[in-house]
Amino acid sequence: MDEKVYELINDQINKEFYSAYLYMAIADYYEDEGLKGFANWYMIQTQEERDHALIFRKYLLDNDCKVVLTEIAQPDASFSDHLSPLQAALEHEKYITGTINDIYAAATEAKDFRTVNFLKWFIDEQLEEEANARDMVTNFKLFGNDAKGLYDLDREYQARTYVQAAPLATA
Ligand code: FEO
Repeated sequence: MDEKVYELINDQINKEFYSAYLYMAIADYYEDEGLKGFANWYMIQTQEERDHALIFRKYLLDNDCKVVLTEIAQPDASFSDHLSPLQAALEHEKYITGTINDIYAAATEAKDFRTVNFLKWFIDEQLEEEANARDMVTNFKLFGNDAKGLYDLDREYQARTYVQAAPLATA
């Protein structure tokens, strides 16, 4: 595998685990605030991010490339109100979209079409990740400042359940 493509994919494993860490910190914040539905939503998001890391890990191993695990940074969990973690999550997902695009660009440049093909699931996934994060910000702005609205949102997010990411389920 092209060295730059390899390094970006190996780095992405760390970024996905960092995403899991960030969302666990957000879940911890909401748990502490008594919003167990929001906490549930982010704990499931944590599981999804771990899945993303494992998909990249498997891809490297399948390509006879060494996985090098590196230190995961401490997430910033100093949230000032119930809206700010949702905004932080949206900004983080935009950042992750950028890193996936960087791998795609490097793979295209290197004529590594196997990796280009592999990344298509992530390109689609990031659209969904950003849309979900944006919806949560919008819903909170519309309904979250009213006690009944906040209660209903929390109930809605409590209903989310974990589904293993498709590339792992078929692996
Ligand atoms: Fe791994 Fe939330 O994207």
